[in-house]
Amino acid sequence: MSEKRHPIPSHIRACARVDARRRAEWLDQLRNDPDGFWRREARRLDWIRDFTRSDESSFDEAAFQIRWFADGVLNVAANCVDRHLPERAERAAIIWEGDNPEESRVITYRMLHEEVCRFANVLKANGIRKGDRVTLYLPMIPEAAYAMLACARIGAIHSVVFAGFSADSLASRIRDCDSRLVVTADEGLRGGRKVPLKQSVDEALPHCPSVETVLVVARTGNPVPMTPGRDRWYAAERALVSADCPSEPMGAEDPLFILYTSGSTGTPKGVLHTTGGYLLWAAMTHDVVFDYRPGEVYWCTADIGWVTGHSYVVYGPLANGATTLMFEGVPSYPDSSRFWQVCDKWNVAIFYTAPTALRALMREGDGPVAATSRQSLRILGSVGEPINPEAWEWFHRVVGEGRCPIVDTWWQTETGGIMIAPLPGATDLKPGSATLPFFGVEPLLVDGEGRELTGATEGNLCIARSWPGQMRTVYGDHERFFQTYFSTFPGRYFTGDGARRDEDGYYWITGRVDDVINVSGHRMGTAEVESALVAHAKIAEAAVVGMPHPIKGQGIYAYVTLNVGEEGSETLREDIVRWVRREIGPIATPDIVQFAPGLPKTRSGKIMRRILRKIAEGDTDSLGDISTLADPSVVERLIADSRLLT
Ligand code: WT7
Repeated sequence: MSEKRHPIPSHIRACARVDARRRAEWLDQLRNDPDGFWRREARRLDWIRDFTRSDESSFDEAAFQIRWFADGVLNVAANCVDRHLPERAERAAIIWEGDNPEESRVITYRMLHEEVCRFANVLKANGIRKGDRVTLYLPMIPEAAYAMLACARIGAIHSVVFAGFSADSLASRIRDCDSRLVVTADEGLRGGRKVPLKQSVDEALPHCPSVETVLVVARTGNPVPMTPGRDRWYAAERALVSADCPSEPMGAEDPLFILYTSGSTGTPKGVLHTTGGYLLWAAMTHDVVFDYRPGEVYWCTADIGWVTGHSYVVYGPLANGATTLMFEGVPSYPDSSRFWQVCDKWNVAIFYTAPTALRALMREGDGPVAATSRQSLRILGSVGEPINPEAWEWFHRVVGEGRCPIVDTWWQTETGGIMIAPLPGATDLKPGSATLPFFGVEPLLVDGEGRELTGATEGNLCIARSWPGQMRTVYGDHERFFQTYFSTFPGRYFTGDGARRDEDGYYWITGRVDDVINVSGHRMGTAEVESALVAHAKIAEAAVVGMPHPIKGQGIYAYVTLNVGEEGSETLREDIVRWVRREIGPIATPDIVQFAPGLPKTRSGKIMRRILRKIAEGDTDSLGDISTLADPSVVERLIADSRLLT
């Protein structure tokens, strides 16, 4: 790992809102008067009724609860829209850049207010009330943001399902939270290709008895079947309602949204975030980590189907009255210069993306970048997975021409917002390190037994105490919430990541230490892919592990044992890959399917994943002790076959 240090550029230091001195003052106050600190920071939001207590959380089993600003009352949509009207009604709230470079729209705060109110009134006219769940299965179009904010306005709980997930995945997410209404589009459009969203909804809904209504936004305008009594065109509904809708006063701890994410076991968990703490965290981190200045155009390339899209396309920037750019397309369409062309077209100052996109673009050489100006860029950001120093240096030197700090932001769906990241005006950078914890975040490293490790060391990354943006529960399963995050190392939140801390106290995330893999910055549970595999008629048993992948970071390596009498073939391999894509979605596409005569198991029948991981990594010299295997010869066979595949 590179230990090269990039000092803070003087032009950034000179006018950063949080410089080293202010950072020290804030940390000081956090130490001496945390309540005063949070009371002051919470002024970033408009409260309908002030809170009297800030943090009342405890990670201890006996007193377990996570609560912030609990008796405060506010509304997220009012904070993200209405309160900006007096001063910036005509400022662009959302710049929408279509998949087709000829298509774009600028939505001012005044327009956003009208659209959110109308969308909220459509939801109400369709029977949605405070506390109801609404599933959003939408492409990256402004209506997605309107729908999220409309739910927030009336107190409905949105559950956004990434439009790349299959009908099956959509159905299980709808069922888990009993959504009453689904919002979708006729089709999505990405890289010039159509995505049949309404068709997936139609396939999902026969298995979702809770859904009464489907609102369909016309994106491409191609005809889609409409089920009478259930499906309604959004445009027609919109025309019937008023452009005025009061916002519902919400308790700070009332639910804002559910977002499903993969874990190491079982089905995806419904991560639940609430109103006050989440919004404060999204707003504060967006403001401070990106050093946002009023009037700047800010662009986060994430899809709203992921938490990054929630916190840093919609809620954080809009709470701050910023201009947020929403991109429907992909980095490679019409050509691999697209990101930088969009930066030039809209004068983007802050650009936040994922290492996987950078690695893919790097492969195209510097030409597509050099063909553009990028003079507007001031701050660059990275998220989703460890950024390798080569990609970091390329981002810094080629994209930012050496003048833009890179904020490498570590966080998770569960944390609501950024947890470990540099502050552009206060932190020297080291390529590959997410650097230092954000205000109020107390990371610690522990060994396998939960003993805290001090100084420069490596271990399991935990967080010692609550922060406002923390998830509050797993929807419908509070026990699972406690078990998953607080039981491994009692009294601490366990992230599932490993990390190294260097002599300067900088954190270097080393990746997941559980059975979760990170494919292109997206989390995938190996157990989920395995259960999709074994649902295939010809598969008896399957084990999935991560493998190094030059673009995706990690790829999916599947070991598959067929039913007796079945023969592995290229056709069957293709069929299995297609099956998994259909069961989960294209992001779960196995990179390698290896037919295995048997899997390495202990005598008690437990699959030894450690060995499978080593084989997938091509690291077969250090398999460790295999003497506990029921049949050690299986390993030889797997190694030999694996060499033929990779
Ligand atoms: C996991 C969380 C954070 C929003 C997008 C992903 C990995 C995330 C970094 C980073 C190293 C990172 C971790 C984490 N991760 N950001 N900057 N450096 N690793 O959210 O799907 O909840 O995944 O992504 O492993 O646990 P997510």
